[in-house]
Amino acid sequence: ADALRIGIAGLGTVGASLVALLQQRKNELAVTCGRAIEIVAVSARNRNRDRGIDLTGIDWYDSPVEMASRANIDLFVELMGGANGAADESVRAALSRGLHVVTANKALLARCGVELAALAEEKGALLNFEAAVAGGIPVIKALRESLTGNHVSRIYGIMNGTCNYILTRMEKEGLSFADCLKEAQRLGYAEADPAFDIEGNDTAHKLAILTTLAFGSQIAADDIYLEGITNISIEDIRAAADLGYRIKLLGVAQLTDSGIEQRVHPTMVPLDSVIAQVDGVTNAVAIESDILGELLMVGPGAGGNATASAVLGDIADVAKSRPGAQQVPALGRPAAALEPYRRAR
Ligand code: NDP
Ligand code: HSE
Repeated sequence: ADALRIGIAGLGTVGASLVALLQQRKNELAVTCGRAIEIVAVSARNRNRDRGIDLTGIDWYDSPVEMASRANIDLFVELMGGANGAADESVRAALSRGLHVVTANKALLARCGVELAALAEEKGALLNFEAAVAGGIPVIKALRESLTGNHVSRIYGIMNGTCNYILTRMEKEGLSFADCLKEAQRLGYAEADPAFDIEGNDTAHKLAILTTLAFGSQIAADDIYLEGITNISIEDIRAAADLGYRIKLLGVAQLTDSGIEQRVHPTMVPLDSVIAQVDGVTNAVAIESDILGELLMVGPGAGGNATASAVLGDIADVAKSRPGAQQVPALGRPAAALEPYRRAR
């Protein structure tokens, strides 16, 4: 089969890890996918920045929108971030041409994921976003495919690696909030604007996406009770420990008799619970559903390789898909079949 030709917009923490992995594992990926995966175009802001990757022979685009609109590619990979601007415009340009899209951008999906999913369906394109929630944990695939037919009643967990990293190091090493955040930024865990992490917005974006997949409703990122970890002190963490609890930033979405309840806030979890043992950048997502029961997925939630692992899986799914074959809908069901969002009273 012909090679899958991809264009990657964004060569930061995730994009650079992805390029390195695609190059290192080129031969085995070609065997696994039944065709080669070829990076033919890339885009980032600064052409001269040393990224520690070899871009020889790959077309450079200063504008990701230009790349999405004109490059001779089958798949557009968006790893820039941001709910608007270049990410939004380039993803729309790519889908409008019928190109498949893979993105890690939860802020964009939380804002207009249903619209993008509808556009992808109309054009017969795949829109994959496993990396957008809980880094390398395959929670999107679990909800979108594996749990089909289940009725989900609740989904909750630790969905932000930066916050969990900060809370863990504050507790275990007595480091200051500011120092832990700086270290999370250095390690590539934090968002470009880390306020999104520590104020809870990033968890809210992820929760909104999971809610839609879990309950088949429209995305409602604005209907989330939101409280971040900026006011949590070492004294709070120690007081919780004295009482037998650990403080975790949780995202929770559950179905109630009156509708859906979504919230993000620091939560005291009992020391002997599994979720209390989830430390550092690790994430954990629990899904309660009627046929399966409780599923708990724990794994690396942020960082270059962890995230690139999920992006790689999404790219491989595109490479393995056959033209004209029935596609798995981006949000688990056709966009037109999503229910209106009903907020719990
Ligand atoms: P970085 O800030 O490290 O990288 C962003 C990249 O996008 C940079 O290469 C930057 O170019 C490029 N870029 C930004 N704006 C533009 C633009 N207007 N035109 C062209 N290129 C642009 O981000 P990350 O790699 O950390 O994150 C990328 C995406 O993945 C985000 O959506 C993020 O939320 C998501 N994500 C990140 C995770 C992580 O652990 N880091 C985990 C899961 C998801 P330049 O390098 O020249 O500045
Ligand atoms: N900033 C995010 C986090 C990246 O720390 O979890 C992964 O989505």
